[in-house]
Amino acid sequence: MSSVERPELAAVPETALWTLWQRAVEARRPDAVLHDPKAVDLVERIDYPFAERFGTSGFQSQLQALRVACFDREVADFLAREPRGTVVCLGEGLETQYWRVDNGRARWLTVDLPEMIALRERLLPPGPRQRYLAADATDLVWADEVDRDRAVLVTAQGLCMYLPPARVKALIAGCADRFPGGSMVVDAVPRWFARFTASGKMRTAAYQVPAMRWAMDAGERDKLRTASPAVTAVRDVRPTDGRGLLGALLPLALTAPWLAAHRPSVTVLNFAEGPEPA
Ligand SMILES: C[S@@+](CC[C@H](N)C(=O)[O-])C[C@H]1O[C@@H](n2cnc3c(N)ncnc32)[C@H](O)[C@@H]1O
Repeated sequence: MSSVERPELAAVPETALWTLWQRAVEARRPDAVLHDPKAVDLVERIDYPFAERFGTSGFQSQLQALRVACFDREVADFLAREPRGTVVCLGEGLETQYWRVDNGRARWLTVDLPEMIALRERLLPPGPRQRYLAADATDLVWADEVDRDRAVLVTAQGLCMYLPPARVKALIAGCADRFPGGSMVVDAVPRWFARFTASGKMRTAAYQVPAMRWAMDAGERDKLRTASPAVTAVRDVRPTDGRGLLGALLPLALTAPWLAAHRPSVTVLNFAEGPEPA
């Protein structure tokens, strides 16, 4: 496919170009911690000043890739247990996870805002087991499109920080109610990071990260259980196999008490099988 896209996106959808770019920067390295040739191909088909706006930091690309790898691992484990299951990707943007971990049998549902779905349809046309839905993920109307006879894993990668906190809670509760026995993978930025975005300090010379509205310190993850009694377990997903200095410092960041409690996090939520018998 040779056509080049010139996206004009609002600030929050534009963040999907940031994550795409970080995956591509990482994937181009010979020592990449994430293999993502589709992302490399994609940035070549988008007319956007990626390097000028987002920079080319190998530190940032690795951090992002390690987060992505946490999600990939959870999806791959789910598909190993439930090869015919459904993966619902909320706020999927231009993620290329399907091309990294699909097993040839699962179903995939992408939910994102209309402008992003329109771009994704042009750049990454869906295959027969993929479906794209233009919707606000927090409205949960998308849940009616999911086959309840199949196991379900919902992912919200890079989404919840852009939602009001009450909506994050309602989204988790809504998924727990609608997908008994299912799971959800959610990532969060720590509170200090969200404060930096709100004060405009997260920026390059040419790009300002939009203010993040929901934040959660890693040490607070158990609070996610309060979203619904149907959230039965909460599990931390830790990055592994980093390279260089970051790779060497990661074990420290994961064990030194303050750092471990105030780092970005990826969390799996398990949902109850069904209502308790009366
Ligand atoms: C940081 S990007 C993450 C994209 C992708 N998940 C990734 O990790 O590369 C945030 C994405 O969330 C989408 N988004 C933001 N608010 C949304 C909402 N209320 N409903 C659905 N999608 C939303 C944006 O359009 C964008 O694609």
